[in-house]
Amino acid sequence: MRTIDWIDGAIELIDQTLLPHRLELHRVTELPELIDDIQRLAVRGAPALGVAGAMGVALIAASVDAANGDEELDRDEVRRQAALLREARPTAVNLSWGVDRAMTRLDEGAAAILEEALAIRDEDIAACISMGLRGADLTRELTGKDRVRVMTICNTGSLATVERGTALGVIQTLLEQDSLEEAFPLETRPLLQGARLTAWELQRMEAPFRLLIDSAGPFLLSRGIADAVFIGADRIAANGDSANKIGSFSLALAAKHAGVPFIVVAPESTIDMSTASGADIEIEDRGPLEVAGFGGVRTAPEGVDAVNPAFDVTPHELITAIVTDRRVVLPSRGETLGGVPLGDLRS
Ligand code: MRU
Repeated sequence: MRTIDWIDGAIELIDQTLLPHRLELHRVTELPELIDDIQRLAVRGAPALGVAGAMGVALIAASVDAANGDEELDRDEVRRQAALLREARPTAVNLSWGVDRAMTRLDEGAAAILEEALAIRDEDIAACISMGLRGADLTRELTGKDRVRVMTICNTGSLATVERGTALGVIQTLLEQDSLEEAFPLETRPLLQGARLTAWELQRMEAPFRLLIDSAGPFLLSRGIADAVFIGADRIAANGDSANKIGSFSLALAAKHAGVPFIVVAPESTIDMSTASGADIEIEDRGPLEVAGFGGVRTAPEGVDAVNPAFDVTPHELITAIVTDRRVVLPSRGETLGGVPLGDLRS
């Protein structure tokens, strides 16, 4: 089953807010519904947001086209609605990237926009397979081990992409290659993407794993529990600084302290060369309610305020490797994202 797809003229997506208790598809036929699904994290994860953005433009174009009857497609109206979709969440560059890429076909009409959205979907599936293979090879190479124990945060699996995943896709590949000794997903406060979604995915793939609370991650790395840390990314700046789920930065610091490779796995579409460094990345603050309670139950006293950054930024100096669908770049060894792809580990 795909996390997000285009079926009979509409977007169908797994409503991730219901997992792990219920696996239900939500059929989205209108833009406000899609924006709502993105904002309440029914669809989430950078690559899946890229596909949602592109398919969202296809949805907009189809509805504007239908409203216009025989008239030519009202391109200004499509642009106006696409701008709303683009702004639904700020940190993952893939959302605006997906919208913008679909919009490059605007002059060719609604069918061409849909064609582009479907191409993005298909490319995501291929990119995840490629990242998985490259990441698994790299892990064995960096750790010098045939079977590894890995730590990860948030959900970077099939639910964060169309079909297979980025960092969790590497873990799945390691499993398939009999190279996974054990995985340690962090629960990922406050919305528990690790406990609800990653644990669900790891169970389905029958991987050996034990769940950790977020604050146990850095300490257990210092005790040698894992050979490598894998994370995804929502936006990678031109200098390699990487935004990802809050908690990633603490893991990177702890990985450095423990001498464990810290590996970012993300498709090329997550690299934003127009953002110079992590300091320029807008970090979504999701407001106090998610921190002060869970599932509609208040855990902090009434009236308590909170700061709730959904993401943090790991400086490139702390990143051992960035694995994309096309290359491996080693920022910790001074390699950069610009220019010719690097990554020959043996050189
Ligand atoms: O707030 P979310 O659940 O959308 O955050 C998702 C993450 O931080 C992921 O790690 C990132 O998007 C990469 S997904 C392959």
